Amino acid sequence: MPAPRPFVAEVPHAPDGRVMIEPMSADDAPQQATDVAQARVLLIGIGAGDPDYVTTQAALAIRELDVLFVVTNEEEQADLVHARREVVDRYRDDDDYRTVELRDPDRPWKDTPHYADAVAHWRSQRVELWEAALAEHLAPGQTGGFLIWGDPSLYESTLSIVAEVQARSTASFDYEVLPGVSSIHALTARHRIPLNRQGGAVQITPARLLGSGIPASANDVVVMLDPSTTFMRLDPTGLEIYWGAYLGTPDELLIAGPLEQVRDEIVRVRAEAKERKGWIFDTYLIRRVLAERRTKASERRVRQVERRAGEIERRSGHDRRATKHVTTDYPPMPGGAEVQSL
Ligand SMILES: C[S@@+](CC[C@H](N)C(=O)[O-])C[C@H]1O[C@@H](n2cnc3c(N)ncnc32)[C@H](O)[C@@H]1O
Repeated sequence: MPAPRPFVAEVPHAPDGRVMIEPMSADDAPQQATDVAQARVLLIGIGAGDPDYVTTQAALAIRELDVLFVVTNEEEQADLVHARREVVDRYRDDDDYRTVELRDPDRPWKDTPHYADAVAHWRSQRVELWEAALAEHLAPGQTGGFLIWGDPSLYESTLSIVAEVQARSTASFDYEVLPGVSSIHALTARHRIPLNRQGGAVQITPARLLGSGIPASANDVVVMLDPSTTFMRLDPTGLEIYWGAYLGTPDELLIAGPLEQVRDEIVRVRAEAKERKGWIFDTYLIRRVLAERRTKASERRVRQVERRAGEIERRSGHDRRATKHVTTDYPPMPGGAEVQSL
C-alpha cells in the first residue's frame, strides 16, 4: 500500500508563489490520492485564542476533514467549545463532514494521593475509547481530525494518545501533527519580549512542579496550568514576571513587572476576571533579573515605557480589540490590552 502523501506538501500556491487560501472552496481543496486506502488523522494546532492564529496549513486541513473528532469533558468551558466552533465555521463553508464526540472519562486525580496511577488509568481508558471511535467512524481513505488548542506538542495528551492508539490498533491509520501558536508564544508576543535571553535556556513547567521554588539553575521559567497563583509562594527577590490571561481573546489581560511589586495586582485582577467569566486560563514567565544587569535593565524598561507612550499617542484609534484594561497607570498596548510595566 502506498504511503499517504504528507499533508504539508499539499498547501497550494498561486503561480506568483502566494498561498491560495481565500479563493478556495472545499471542492478545490487538494484531493487524497484515490489509491490510498489508509485513513489519516490530523492533529491540528489552532492557536491559543485568536482565530487569526490559525495557520494556512491548519485552515486547509480543516477543509479536508471527513470526520471532526471533538473531545469533551465535564470541565469543558463553553467559551472554548465556542472558539473551536468559530474556527471551523470560519474555514469551512460546507456541512460535508461528520462530528464525532469523544466524551472524556472523568478525571479523578484532583482527589487522589496517587496522582501518577490515576493519570495512567485515565489515559488507558482514553486510548480504548479513541481506538473504538476511530475504528468505527473513520473509513479507509478518509481524513479525521482533532482541533487542538494552541500547539499539539505542549501540555496536550491528544498527540501521545493517538500515537498509542496507532501503535496498538488493528485499525490502520497514519497521523500528522500541524503546529499551532502556543499560549507561550502568544504571551511573549503580547509582552513584546524574547522567550529566551541571549544564549540562555528556558524551562517550561506546570505550576504543580514549582512547589519548592524556581530551580537554582533556571533563570527563565514559563509556568502553565496554575489554578492557584503559585507565584505567590516564590521568594520574589530578583524576579520579574510577565503574566497573561485569555491571551489572543477580547478578554486578554497582561501585567508585567518586578514580582514583588505586581504580584498582588495579578492576584486581584485574576480573581476578578475569574469571578466574572467563571474560568481562567493564564500563563506567565518568571525571569531572574541577573544582578549585574539589574540597573541597566530597569533603565531600559523606563525608556521602553516612554517609547511605548509615544507610539500609543501616534496610533490612537487603531485598537483592534475591546480588551479589559487592568490598570490606568501605564500606557495601553497597541493591540488594545494595557500592560502594567514597572
Ligand atoms: C492543557 S494546556 C494547553 C496548552 C496549549 N496546548 C498551548 O499550546 O498553549 C492549558 C494551559 O495553557 C495555558 N493557556 C492556554 N491558552 C491560554 C491563553 N489563551 N491565555 C493564557 N494561557 C493559556 C494555561 O496555562 C492553561 O492552563
